[in-house]
Amino acid sequence: MIIGIIGSGAMGAGIAQVVATAGHTVRLLDQNAAALQRAGQSIRTNLDKLAEKGKITSEAVDSIFAKLQLTAELHAFTDCELVIEAIVEDLSVKQQLFREVELVVSPDCILATNTSSLSIASIAAACQQPERFIGIHFFNPAPIMQLVEVIPAVQTRPGLAEEIRDLVQSWSKLPVLTKDTPGFIVNRVARPFYGEAIRILEEGIADMATIDWALTELGGFRMGPFTLMDFIGHDVNYRVTESVFTAFFYDPRFKPSFTQKRLFEAGYYGRKSGRGFYSYAPGAVPPEP
Ligand code: NAI
Repeated sequence: MIIGIIGSGAMGAGIAQVVATAGHTVRLLDQNAAALQRAGQSIRTNLDKLAEKGKITSEAVDSIFAKLQLTAELHAFTDCELVIEAIVEDLSVKQQLFREVELVVSPDCILATNTSSLSIASIAAACQQPERFIGIHFFNPAPIMQLVEVIPAVQTRPGLAEEIRDLVQSWSKLPVLTKDTPGFIVNRVARPFYGEAIRILEEGIADMATIDWALTELGGFRMGPFTLMDFIGHDVNYRVTESVFTAFFYDPRFKPSFTQKRLFEAGYYGRKSGRGFYSYAPGAVPPEP
C-alpha cells in the first residue's frame, strides 16, 4: 500500500516510521523543509538504534528507510491509497489541506486525520467525498505507543472503520474503535488528569516534582502529569484542552488553566523549546521520563 503522511513533526515522523516498518511505501510531506529533514534524520536514528539493540538487522534498516520518500509536493500523493494528516491542530487549516488533497488523490484514496481533539465530522465536512474520511489517532511516540484510536465520523461509509482497524492491527498496534466525541477516549480521560494536577499545584498543595513523583511511584503512571505535558508540548496540549472544553459546550470539568495558557503564550512549549513547566536548558536537570 502507498501511504501519504502530511506533517512531519513529532507525530507525522513517528507514523511514517510505523507504516514504513510495516512494509508500506511512504510519502512524507511537510511545508517546512527543515522539519522534513529533521524527520528523515530522526527516523534514521531511531531505526539505527533498533539495529544496535539487535531488534532489527541493518539490512532491514536500509530497506525500511528506502520505502520513505520526503517531499514538499502534494503531487507526489497522486498514487496514495491512504493519506494520514498530522499537521497543526487547527480546524480551518486541516479543512483547507483536505480540500487540496482531494484535488490530487484518486477517488478511492482513504483520508484520515490524526487530530487529538477536533471533530472528525467537521474535518470530513470540508471534503467532496466525506464518506472516505476517518480518524486514526496515534499516541506519542507513535513507534512505541501501542494504542491507536480509530474514529469513524457520521459521514464515514459503513465498513471503513473495521477495514482501518484491521489495517492498524497489521502494523502491530492495538486499535480501539471509538465514537467521534471530544477527546475520544484517551484525551477525554487525560484532561482532568492534567487539569487536577495543575490545580493541585496552583492551590499550593504540592509542588510539580512531588505530584509527578506521586503519580509515577504510587500511581503507576509512566510519566507524571507535568513531565508528560512538557513531553507532548504545550502548543499541542493547551490547544487540545481548549478544543475539548469548547466542544463540551464549556463544561467546567474541562476548563483550561491560565498557568498552562501563559506557558503556551510565552512559547514555553516544553522539551521541544527547552522550557515548559521544567527547564531543559543546557545544564538543567530535566526529569527522567
Ligand atoms: P508538530 O508541531 O510536531 O508537527 C506539525 C508539523 O506539521 C510541522 O512540521 C509543520 O511544519 C507541519 N505543517 C503545519 N501545517 C502544515 C500544512 N498546511 N501542510 C504541511 N505541513 C504542515 O505537531 P505534532 O505534535 O506532530 O501534532 C500533529 C497533529 O497530531 C496535531 O493534530 C496533534 O493534535 C496530533 N497529535 C499530537 C500528539 C502529541 O502528543 N504531540 C499525539 C496525538 C495526536
